[in-house]
Amino acid sequence: MNDLGNNREQWGSRLGFILAAMGSAVGLGNIWRFSYVTGENGGAAFLLVYILCILLIGIPILMAEFTIGRRAQSDAVGAFEKLAPGKPWVAAGYMGVASAFIILSFYAVVAGWAVYYFVQYVLGNLSAPPEDGYAGFFVGFISNSTQPLFWQFLFMVLTVGIVFVGVKKGIEKANKILMPLLAILVIILAVYSLSLDGASEGVAFLFSPDWSKLLDPEVYLAALGQAFFSLSLGMGALITYGSYLKKEHKLPGAAVGVAGLDTIFAIIAGLMIFPAVFAFGVAPDEGAGLAFIILPEIFGDMALGQLYGILFFFLLSAAALSSAVSLLEVAVAFFIRKFDWSRKKASIIIGGIIFLLGIPASLGNGVWSHISFFGQPDIIDSMDFIASKIFLPLGGMIIALFIGWGWKKADALEHSDFGDTTLGNLWLFVLKFVAPVLIVIVFVAGLL
Ligand code: PFF
Repeated sequence: MNDLGNNREQWGSRLGFILAAMGSAVGLGNIWRFSYVTGENGGAAFLLVYILCILLIGIPILMAEFTIGRRAQSDAVGAFEKLAPGKPWVAAGYMGVASAFIILSFYAVVAGWAVYYFVQYVLGNLSAPPEDGYAGFFVGFISNSTQPLFWQFLFMVLTVGIVFVGVKKGIEKANKILMPLLAILVIILAVYSLSLDGASEGVAFLFSPDWSKLLDPEVYLAALGQAFFSLSLGMGALITYGSYLKKEHKLPGAAVGVAGLDTIFAIIAGLMIFPAVFAFGVAPDEGAGLAFIILPEIFGDMALGQLYGILFFFLLSAAALSSAVSLLEVAVAFFIRKFDWSRKKASIIIGGIIFLLGIPASLGNGVWSHISFFGQPDIIDSMDFIASKIFLPLGGMIIALFIGWGWKKADALEHSDFGDTTLGNLWLFVLKFVAPVLIVIVFVAGLL
């Protein structure tokens, strides 16, 4: 029996758990997705709404996921089945598993780009500007029908490899070394970017709001989606990680730590990207390629640029890997319990399916560029839209309502480690009313 608390895997330490959760949160979302979504939504005004989403909705729901996971000691679906048998809350769990499939399918495509860039820097192919510039190089690569598939496949093999080995050995170890290294590198690059001529325009773009942007309801949906995506929230990834946690660990500090670090990471990444965007005369609303175009521009400008390129894309790939692992783990943990599959069988089969689902996402940048859904520009954006802007916030809302209304107050306060404190009661109030109401308002405004 895999769902009995006593013989499931466990994190080695509280720090191991926090780092794994941070590893899940910090990834392409902080650098690739954050920069282009911020660029497309007007910069500082978006950032402000984003930070409000983190504080008012993100952190409380993050706490909710940790609490549910540790209490239930089960996966995204099993947790609800165990804590509220026969009740409809479990819909959040199934939506979460579906989101894991959708997000990882396109996530692996973009992560494959990062791995490809790493290898190109190692080979020295990007030490000098390519013939048709960094933008031309990027578009040429992603629109190719076969090349990106190879790197996407390689990335999925690595992801499956780590999940295959298991939570503690595979996931915990890698994060301890790579996360701090990436943080240091992003800070160094931000300092460099800020020293470029024209950097101040980028700083203004990121920090002095153009208030008229707040009149656009889509900015709110974009910020909400980015908050959920970046915090790995709303799909049970953190329920699953919380379920590998022993009872004696304290949760609220961990939740604030994870959310705080993730947000600081994004802001520093913004300080790395936007000053350079303006210094090199690139449009901030360039779209999904922004980071892949601007970073090579920065490295091209730097002494030892090739070395920085190697390091940066290595660490970005590693950060993507620790996030991808948590995405795959949501589905794998579910299949292991539900169908009594072994961890090895589940990782390989599900990883394989997700690779196949990602093929159209990759081809959507080239031969299938005419295909898209929900009014989005391409297949990756269509998949991202349904997962990040619909499923994750909806899943998060159900999770909030579940703790707020589906649980006894005393249980919620006890199992969150808040106890009957002011902060604990405030948390429950936010889960009961504030977060769900805000999510509904953003949905109504942004989708209708
Ligand atoms: N938070 C990850 C990032 O910012 O790259 C992406 C992600 C991981 C989303 C895990 C959702 C998830 F469950």
